[in-house]
Amino acid sequence: MRLLIAGGAGYIGSALITRLLERGYLVDVADLFWFGNCLPPETGLLNKDLFDLTTEDLKDYDQVLFLAGLSNDPMAEYSPSKNFVYNAAAPAYLAYTAKKAGVRRYIYASSCSVYGYTVNELYDETRPVASSYPYGISKLQGEQAVMNLLDDEYSVIALRKGTVSGYSARMRLDLIVNTMFKCALRDGAITIDNPTIWRPILAIDDAVTAYVRAIEAHEEISGIFNIASGNYTVGEVGDQVKAEVEERLGAKVGLTIRHVQDVRNYKVSIEKAKNVLSFHPRHDVRSIVGDLIKHKNEFSDWDNPAYYNIRMFQSLASSITAPVLAKPAGVAA
Ligand SMILES: NC(=O)c1ccc[n+]([C@@H]2O[C@H](COP(=O)([O-])OP(=O)(O)OC[C@H]3O[C@@H](n4cnc5c(N)ncnc54)[C@H](O)[C@@H]3O)[C@@H](O)[C@H]2O)c1
Repeated sequence: MRLLIAGGAGYIGSALITRLLERGYLVDVADLFWFGNCLPPETGLLNKDLFDLTTEDLKDYDQVLFLAGLSNDPMAEYSPSKNFVYNAAAPAYLAYTAKKAGVRRYIYASSCSVYGYTVNELYDETRPVASSYPYGISKLQGEQAVMNLLDDEYSVIALRKGTVSGYSARMRLDLIVNTMFKCALRDGAITIDNPTIWRPILAIDDAVTAYVRAIEAHEEISGIFNIASGNYTVGEVGDQVKAEVEERLGAKVGLTIRHVQDVRNYKVSIEKAKNVLSFHPRHDVRSIVGDLIKHKNEFSDWDNPAYYNIRMFQSLASSITAPVLAKPAGVAA
């Protein structure tokens, strides 16, 4: 099976592609390489904006995955206009073009951030979504656009992922567990902005498994799926990171608790993903920290800007322009 992964050079893609190659898939990546390229050498590379992909480019693929866009709140808030272009329009354009090219399945990297600020109940995929901030709104717009294209010939799967954490060759230290781990080791202390807030946490290994299950699901399967390793309060995440670092590395880690308002608070049910995709997470916060400890020498240059999406994006922003729209054939310049 031949797969095209747009945004595959990012944090999730770099881990996913290693697993897909092990399973015998042929994988090509279309990416702008904002954060460099840490992909295995067997990966086919297309160094281009996904807006430049045509039906001709996509016609030989069985499935297309969207892992691109601006992947966190700070990037989305730094440039709301680019956020809506790259997070809402881009997945819609790619899903539309892939369908026209005869691709059989499209898999979209959605996010639990679409749930916004919820009451403290477990949310499944049928519950209302209500985010009020650029990132969450744009992820929902992308999701709605791609789900609209689903029919008997074209399967569409959206994975609403919790906050991913753990080690990837394209490392990020701006994700909750990874950030706390860095602070524990670099500063000897973790700051918790709001201990009461709920977040679904997703180990990167479980995230990769969810994509594999989606790729390998029966062709009739489509739909939206919550994907998480577990639901935690931010306070509990901090306690578990501290305990694991102290027990495994013998370091003393302090905790500072603040009470900063947050626009996100949600916990999700993954029953649908278990029952339909056979997605069974294997990890928890403790095992994510174990994975980080195992690889810590590979990213202990803690302040390398490449590990922080917003820092790289700010330095690149002036060169990231909205795509130049091609003139339709026959229209004079
Ligand atoms: N990381 C998380 O915790 C998380 C959680 C939920 C959802 N998601 C979603 O999953 C996806 C992947 O997340 P990630 O953490 O791997 O992101 P990332 O920021 O590490 O990688 C994104 C990649 O997309 C590329 N890219 C962006 N726009 C592009 C375009 N128009 N054309 C070609 N390439 C483009 C970038 O160069 C980068 O390599 C994103 O859509 C994100 O919104 C991530």
